[in-house]
Amino acid sequence: MKKTLTLVLAVIIILAGLAGCGNSKNQSNNSSQPQPSSTEQSKTTSPLAEASAANKAGKKTLVVYFSLPETTNPNNMTKEEANSTVVVGGEVLGNTQYVAYLIQKNTGADIFRIEPKTPYPTNHKTLVDLAKAEQNNKARPELAKKVENLGQYDVIFLGYPNWWGDMPMILYSFLESHNLSGKTIIPFNTHGGSGFSNTISTIAALQPNANVIKNGFTVSRNTVQNCADDVAAWVKELGY
Ligand SMILES: Cc1cc2nc3c(=O)[nH]c(=O)nc-3n(C[C@H](O)[C@H](O)[C@H](O)COP(=O)(O)O)c2cc1C
Repeated sequence: MKKTLTLVLAVIIILAGLAGCGNSKNQSNNSSQPQPSSTEQSKTTSPLAEASAANKAGKKTLVVYFSLPETTNPNNMTKEEANSTVVVGGEVLGNTQYVAYLIQKNTGADIFRIEPKTPYPTNHKTLVDLAKAEQNNKARPELAKKVENLGQYDVIFLGYPNWWGDMPMILYSFLESHNLSGKTIIPFNTHGGSGFSNTISTIAALQPNANVIKNGFTVSRNTVQNCADDVAAWVKELGY
């Protein structure tokens, strides 16, 4: 009899213990703290991924950008080449590329450059004419590659230059071939005077199930080389 009683008590204690584990798991799942994604939990190798996982918002972030510096040579630039570039430590970056790097630096995000399968010309007039023709033809230039493991990202900073009052057509290619549903898209752009034009509404129309932030970051090519502090302040406002 005593043996049976001990056995019954032991079973009750074990069951109570199991119920306790279940409760604490539920509590942590219901917590208002952002939960790391399963990919973040399993990824331990990349320093970038670690920085991203640790960012203040607790969200995994990717910076996606397209940029077309019209030269790679920092010396003897034409006016057009200088207009489309920022030189940092002797390295020539596109204007939007420079802003993308600043965002990455301030957020610890991963970064992805949108590139066409067939490279664009860097001669200014040829490029301007080709871009106009692409726009007129509603072209969808083929991407050199797509984002891998898109599912792991919660926030996408999306950057591009203003081309003919719109996004370059390759941004349409990108947005139509990546499903950003449920993600937050934060646009940024560089321009020669037109700002964003209507591009933010266009992004929202192409990704109707994404949360597209309306107050993105836009900067003129005339002041882009001095925008580091503004970018830092902006991403801080966003919670990074
Ligand atoms: C094909 C082409 C079209 C452009 N169209 C416009 C435009 O309509 N409005 C504007 O403000 N800037 C326009 N620009 C200027 C670019 O937006 C600006 O130089 C930008 O900073 C370039 O960024 P990137 O160096 O990252 O490519 C155009 C530039 C190019 C090459």
